Amino acid sequence: MLIAQITDMHVRPRGRIAYDRVDTNAMLEAAVATLEGLSRKPDLVIATGDLADCGLAAEYEELGDLLEPLSMPVYLVPGNHDRRAELFDEFASDGYFRNDDGFLHYVVEGHDVRLVGLDTVVPGHGHGEMCAARLAWLEARLSEASRQPTLIFMHHPPFSTGLADMDRINCRNGAALADLLRRFDNIERVVCGHHHRPITVRWAGTIGSVAPSTAHQVTLDLVADDSPSTFTMEPPGFHLHLWSPEAGLVTHGVAIGHYDGPFPFVLDADYPGNKAKPAAEAA
Ligand SMILES: [Fe+2]
Ligand SMILES: [Fe+2]
Repeated sequence: MLIAQITDMHVRPRGRIAYDRVDTNAMLEAAVATLEGLSRKPDLVIATGDLADCGLAAEYEELGDLLEPLSMPVYLVPGNHDRRAELFDEFASDGYFRNDDGFLHYVVEGHDVRLVGLDTVVPGHGHGEMCAARLAWLEARLSEASRQPTLIFMHHPPFSTGLADMDRINCRNGAALADLLRRFDNIERVVCGHHHRPITVRWAGTIGSVAPSTAHQVTLDLVADDSPSTFTMEPPGFHLHLWSPEAGLVTHGVAIGHYDGPFPFVLDADYPGNKAKPAAEAA
């Protein structure tokens, strides 16, 4: 099973850009082209929030159009830049959003890896949370299949990363979520967005990760001070989570765009892996 994770696309209404600088829509179009050009197509795509930049209906309409070329199902969870009602209205017909308890969380069944999408949004705020209601929902879902390999996907990382300004707006009650996840040994990953950088951590008895954005990246700033986050136009990317029974879940980073190659490895005569010449020939 191959799971593609795209995140933080920050789509704008057609013809508009983000932050007076970033053509997020064109960058998502490039991400979709890279996904469709992979030699092994993902079985499905998960998108971990900040799908739109302002949560506008016109942005979700554009998002739908931009995702249309994908030949596999796409599963969305909201981030702090999203609005639940507008997101639900545009994508409810895909069938996996229920929104019957006010949250856009759900389980994707029928694959080797069970996928649990969480909704960490706190409307009107940049940070996220897993409140008591959402933790109870998650506990019930995890208890349904406690032996099947499971991947949790969510927007706000529930762990600290060292990006001080972003950590101030992470998923605030990560400790409570960690306490719940530690009770299960089938959680392969907790994969997130929000921080716009590739990050990996050991956390809650599992592996936590963040994928880079398909658009702009948050500047790498590991100085623990009060300086505000900024962004850079480092190369965009996404993650591929490859499942096999033998290896478990393995995560690959993929750069979006076109690059020279592939080229054959032509080994130099001085390469130390070349077999030693027979003594007579060497003499
Ligand atoms: Fe974002
Ligand atoms: Fe975010």
